[in-house]
Amino acid sequence: MEQRNALERFAQLVRTGAVDPGDGAVRLGVDLGTANIVLAVVDGTNAPVAGAWRHSSVVRDGVVVDWLGAVSSVSDLKSELEGRIGATFDRAAVTVPPGVDEGTRKVFTNVLEAAGLGVSEVVDEPVAAATALGLTDGAVIDIGHGTTGVSLLRDGAIGFSVDQATGGHHMTLVISGAKGIDYEEAEQFKTSTAQADLVFGLVRPTLEKMATIAADALRGHDVREIHLVGGASTLPRAAEVFEGVLGEPVRRPAHPLFPTPYGTAMRRTP
Ligand SMILES: Nc1ncnc2c1ncn2[C@@H]1O[C@H](COP(=O)(O)OP(=O)(O)OP(=O)(O)O)[C@@H](O)[C@H]1O
Ligand SMILES: [Mg+2]
Repeated sequence: MEQRNALERFAQLVRTGAVDPGDGAVRLGVDLGTANIVLAVVDGTNAPVAGAWRHSSVVRDGVVVDWLGAVSSVSDLKSELEGRIGATFDRAAVTVPPGVDEGTRKVFTNVLEAAGLGVSEVVDEPVAAATALGLTDGAVIDIGHGTTGVSLLRDGAIGFSVDQATGGHHMTLVISGAKGIDYEEAEQFKTSTAQADLVFGLVRPTLEKMATIAADALRGHDVREIHLVGGASTLPRAAEVFEGVLGEPVRRPAHPLFPTPYGTAMRRTP
């Protein structure tokens, strides 16, 4: 299946709860983020089979802050997928934020183990996203809830990675302050397409700050292509702001929330 279509299909499977018949042994991937936990299942050819997600606040600044919440969410989502697919999982790949120390990696792998899953692979988030995007050389900019991550990949591995505390959370704070509404309401307002122009006006400076983080990180490096992923890049004009600041074309997949979880489940050497 072509990369873009596969990613599109995975997003659809997550949203609808549908299951595609797989070909060969299935593989599970777990992506624990600040705002979302996403589980992905692929078949033996790396095609998507199913996915499940849940909003979460178990990770903050790349650290698991709610251990029990993380374990029960992973365990619930795993059971949900097992029920849908009619298979059982005893192993999974897990993502970690790039550049974290051994202790932090261990906390992520411990979450899986406590949820009854052996760890088949520990994948850096940008490597997972790059796998789903078919990228081996270039930059992955990941704008999530808490942070902006900028990683340069060479031959499919991380050359370097920078992570700074500006993300969708900061956009929500700006909207909350500007409109005098509470955080939850501001979060909903941010994602409501009906108000897209107004939202863009409010969050544009935050997007420019994120783009500046990326520009600073990538300056002086030979960057062949730039991809933008992460939930905050769902905003319709996010890529345009990045292109303006970076002065280079920026590609954003149709469903930027999903390359990381989908790529986590994928086998890197099929
Ligand atoms: N349609 C949308 N429009 C604007 N923002 C969105 C939309 N959908 C999701 N977001 C934002 O994306 C963010 C979550 O993205 P993502 O799931 O990539 O973050 P995360 O991986 O959990 O966080 P981090 O990478 O910082 O640990 C939230 O701030 C959410 O409000
Ligand atoms: Mg993330």
